[in-house]
Amino acid sequence: MTSSTESAETVAKGFQELYGRAPDGVWAAPGRVNLIGEHTDYNDGFVMPLALPHTVLAAAASRTDGILRLHSADVPGGTYELRLDELEPGPDGGWAAYPAGVLWALRAAGLPVGGADLHFASAVPTGAGLSSSAALEVATAFALDGLFSLGLSRARMARLCQHAENDFVGMPCGIMDQMASASCTSGHALYLDTRDLTERQVPFDLTVHGLCLLVVDTRVKHTLADGAYASRRRSCEAGAAALGVPALRDVAHAELDAALRRIDDEEVRSCVRHVVTEDHRVTEVIRLLDAGQVRAVGPVLTQGHISLRDDFRVSCPELDLVVDTANAAGALGARMTGGGFGGSAIVLVDQDRTEDVTRAVRDAFARADFTAPRVFTAVPSEGAHRVV
Ligand code: GLA
Repeated sequence: MTSSTESAETVAKGFQELYGRAPDGVWAAPGRVNLIGEHTDYNDGFVMPLALPHTVLAAAASRTDGILRLHSADVPGGTYELRLDELEPGPDGGWAAYPAGVLWALRAAGLPVGGADLHFASAVPTGAGLSSSAALEVATAFALDGLFSLGLSRARMARLCQHAENDFVGMPCGIMDQMASASCTSGHALYLDTRDLTERQVPFDLTVHGLCLLVVDTRVKHTLADGAYASRRRSCEAGAAALGVPALRDVAHAELDAALRRIDDEEVRSCVRHVVTEDHRVTEVIRLLDAGQVRAVGPVLTQGHISLRDDFRVSCPELDLVVDTANAAGALGARMTGGGFGGSAIVLVDQDRTEDVTRAVRDAFARADFTAPRVFTAVPSEGAHRVV
């Protein structure tokens, strides 16, 4: 897999061929992996994603007639043509619902955006838990911000993209993926408090420590929108309500046992246990990184996986196989990343063991008769930006 299957020039050329004029600019927004802090963002908790070098590129030009045209180099089919004043939230909008939803959200916020022509090309694998949808949204928001000189902050654009995904597309996601795509910087992980979007860029150069972070895409397509994600979210909200706190982030780790005794529903109890221990794991990872104890992060990742597997129940056999096999082959730790139900896992490993671990995972998948996984190194990359 290459970091960008189509260069900005190719996307600009594609735009020219489609729309018969040059774009006003080309913008890029990356996918992400999350190091730690899973299913904490809609509980006002902590996350720690890093941007991948894989981006969605958007070539764009403004229009004055209130029409939005959308085309993707990656999806067969023609160009969508939509009237701005007729944009309506609703199911089954396909890929075009994401950029259309962003335009809808900007207009709903009273921002002066008009029509536009957009042409996209994505190098972010879809359905792999690497936030290809958020990258598409954020690329659109940055393009519109540039076309209409809106001067929006990265955090504001991320919030508007989340609004689009929640209320136009209908997926009740948190803010992590959009913030990761909008705000990550190269060489860093983004330590983010999802309650107030306070952020800290944490240096994350594993090569200095002789380490590597592998991404293993299991090729199992997740279906976050199928209700499992929403149902976990409802369990978390039920937990917060039972404990009388605004969000599970407000339950201190030291008070977890006492809190759990106050919850009758077993399903809600195990969701609460995951979220509270996961927030604690994020602070533990931050402490270790700040202390330069990077190897010690490994076991915390694996604990996170066990919690997602057993308490939050969003793993799957393929993800479990990656984690178990990688650890047995000498990795320092591993976990599923993203929403779960398929998608990708991350593996923290010594550089000189990378090949052994990769081979062990590939062999285990072949033996289990699973589709061959896609394996690559996560290089912490730049967040959304204008390319041309
Ligand atoms: C998906 C959502 C995010 C977050 C993760 C789980 O990626 O889009 O908001 O909830 O799942 O951590």
